[in-house]
Amino acid sequence: MNILVIGSGGREHAVIKKLAQSAGVERIFALPGNGGIAADATCVNIGATDIDAIVEFARGEKIDYAVVTPDDPLALGAVDRLTALGIPCFGPTAAAAQIEASKVFSKNLMKKYGIPTAAFEVFDDAEKALAYLEDAPIPTVIKADGLALGKGVIIAQTRDEARDAVRSMMEDKIFGASGSRVVIEEFLEGPEVSVLAFTDGDCVKPMVSSMDHKRALDGDEGLNTGGMGTIAPNPYYTEAVAAECMETIFLPTIRAMKAEGRPFKGCLYFGLMITKNGPKVIEYNCRFGDPETQVVLPLLESDLLTVMQATTNGTLAETEVKFSDGAACCVVLASSGYPGKYEKGFEMTLPETGAGEYLFVAGAKLDGDRLLTSGGRVIGAVATAPDLPAAVAHAYEVAGKVHFGNAYCRKDIGKRALAALK
Ligand code: AMP
Ligand code: GLY
Repeated sequence: MNILVIGSGGREHAVIKKLAQSAGVERIFALPGNGGIAADATCVNIGATDIDAIVEFARGEKIDYAVVTPDDPLALGAVDRLTALGIPCFGPTAAAAQIEASKVFSKNLMKKYGIPTAAFEVFDDAEKALAYLEDAPIPTVIKADGLALGKGVIIAQTRDEARDAVRSMMEDKIFGASGSRVVIEEFLEGPEVSVLAFTDGDCVKPMVSSMDHKRALDGDEGLNTGGMGTIAPNPYYTEAVAAECMETIFLPTIRAMKAEGRPFKGCLYFGLMITKNGPKVIEYNCRFGDPETQVVLPLLESDLLTVMQATTNGTLAETEVKFSDGAACCVVLASSGYPGKYEKGFEMTLPETGAGEYLFVAGAKLDGDRLLTSGGRVIGAVATAPDLPAAVAHAYEVAGKVHFGNAYCRKDIGKRALAALK
């Protein structure tokens, strides 16, 4: 089979490496991929949001199955367009991708179907939002309605910060049209858990749980990033919590999307907070998380292509989705300065990887046969091991073998999870 994977990050590299193990896979094309992904797939220089060019390419290359990983092409209807051509896809339609693309849509969905989440109000008028803030509980959380590269959430510790957030989103439009509407919501507390789940619109099969580390610096200091590292499984996601999430969140969400005429197929990402009043939804993503995927897929024992096809065909209930009992850790090697300004173009050589070791390339380009850094997040250094302490230690060993100019990583990925294990 000829497979198309849309996207260019470490997540896509992890998906491609796993798909390459599937017996039926002959060729994998990455659109656009990156300099590191080029070792495992044929990279074609078509941007992930250039839907017309993607469709044209898929038609010309006789693509048998397409995997659409990033949020933008999903929201733009890449799956709808490819499916209309007769190319089966992994991923939701544009209508179902609204669960991530519009916070207002997802919050109203949860309210309508009684799915636990932070209490909230929606505003499309800055004056009304500012008036509401006069006696809203502080801290409070302000979210731009639309996609904002993961940056559209501001946790305001004071009333002044909250007002500034509303003004910058709604009046100064720092997130463009995404901030024309905002959600102001209750500040929740508790450990966070990421759960990615395969679903065919009826059946939902959660993957192994994980924990992201979103802040740039050790001790959860510094700016929010796309994610500086992950571990799996997440020790806060106990069997009891998992059972409660299935009952109160996962199944109700899948049923709600179906009832709304937007059945969700593909990978649904549940960003959860385990509060003292039970698990609540912080956010949904309509896709695999990055860098959660880099720890989850190496632990998947079932054939990824088979499972993906089952989500498309509606046969997930009969399809085994099995994960190993082990653990995994991903340490992101980033360009110093990320998520702000950083230098790039530094040469790197990737060391050989042994059993249970992976180097997923997030931001690199080829210059002849030299591999140069080209992004904020550059490499995900991943290791799997029988338990979490070993996985964390091993991932740092793998990370220690990768060198490039301006590299930095957090030194405490997994620290909180290891403390929770005790
Ligand atoms: P999001 O982009 O929606 O994932 O939000 C980014 C981060 O902001 C989350 O991972 C949480 O750490 C935090 N966050 C979002 N909503 C809330 C909330 N209601 N209460 C506390 N923290 C939140
Ligand atoms: N790691 C969080 C995300 O993919 O949005």
